[in-house]
Amino acid sequence: MSFLRIVLLVSLLGTSLAADSLRTAARGRVHVGTAARPGFIIADSRYAATLAREFDQLEPENEMKWLLLRPARDHFDFAPADDLVRFAKQNGMVVRGHTLLWHQAVPKWLADGEWTWNELSQLMADHIQTVVKHFAGSVYAWDVVNEAFHPDGSLRSSIWYDSPGIGAEGPYGYIERAFALAHAADPQAKLFYNDYAFEAGGPKFEAILAMARDFKKRGVPLSGIGFQCHFSLESISAAALERTVRAFTDLGLEVHITELDVRLPVDSTGQPSPKDLERQAQLYGEVVRTCLEIRGCNAIQVWGFTDARSWIPRAFQRYGAGTLFDQEYRAKPAYAAVLDSLSQTTTTGGSHK
Ligand code: G3I
Repeated sequence: MSFLRIVLLVSLLGTSLAADSLRTAARGRVHVGTAARPGFIIADSRYAATLAREFDQLEPENEMKWLLLRPARDHFDFAPADDLVRFAKQNGMVVRGHTLLWHQAVPKWLADGEWTWNELSQLMADHIQTVVKHFAGSVYAWDVVNEAFHPDGSLRSSIWYDSPGIGAEGPYGYIERAFALAHAADPQAKLFYNDYAFEAGGPKFEAILAMARDFKKRGVPLSGIGFQCHFSLESISAAALERTVRAFTDLGLEVHITELDVRLPVDSTGQPSPKDLERQAQLYGEVVRTCLEIRGCNAIQVWGFTDARSWIPRAFQRYGAGTLFDQEYRAKPAYAAVLDSLSQTTTTGGSHK
């Protein structure tokens, strides 16, 4: 079946949204999103139906990265990302864009090229302008720069930063320039800096906060910070998350939870223990409640929603089961906890948007 026919079919099914889906429970206070992949929408009807039923925000898991979007210097392949944008529109979802600059998912032609400062600078500018303009009006928020800091708070080595990269230009070099370019290409889009393993505080958190303060002071068009939230059961407490989120919202910035999942140790058949499933549910619920209680935390997005299609087992040996639905699309305790948190919480900080 073609992608278009699947989009139409799912849209028809979606006209009677269940009253107890995540997106309806959120009641417009926050966007409830997920990363998604077009191949799964085509191949797996349960995937497509669950995606449309539960979420009002979609982010391409890979399709807007340089590797997929720009297979050759002079060739952009927008089709897979456009398919996802179309699916989102047909199902009343907003779209987050991910990501304009990252040290990973860099195509070979770019990684292996011998670039002068000027060439790399021009490539970056052309790329950001072309991509942001292509999706203007469809993508409401961009992860402009992804994961630019090391755990110790220093700037990460990447093609953009290293010699003859464009990182030597002022303290935040290419990062600042990327935000200015994205803003010029689509002044309406919200522009985010997105990172992981800083959500509980520490040197990386301090470095991102210092950058955010500096950008605010000098008028660099930064709208907010993406908290990826790739957690294990030991990663974080709700109190720590509240402190770090508030550090940014207190500056007048937005926070989006962008890539939430909670990986669990699993046995040889991929099963977690019942006790860990309950602890996982508790952490998911706490993250959702924390965001809802802070004015300026405006989106809660998971990084995939079913254990059948998650990136986690490929990345972490003997871990898995990190999402809201199991391999058979049965709702897990974590789903119930998120639904409950979205249903119960009344926002103390007034309107979120
Ligand atoms: O699709 C090809 C397949 O054709 C090929 O046979 C196979 C061989 O390895 O690779 C497949 O591509 C993989 C792709 O995911 C789709 O499955 C790539 O190898 C793999 O590297 C890629 O991983 C993605 C990763 O980012 C790197 O781009 C994950 O799906 C994606 O979940 C992950 O997402 C990142 C965020 O962008 C940033 N934050 C962390 C997060 C998790 O790492």
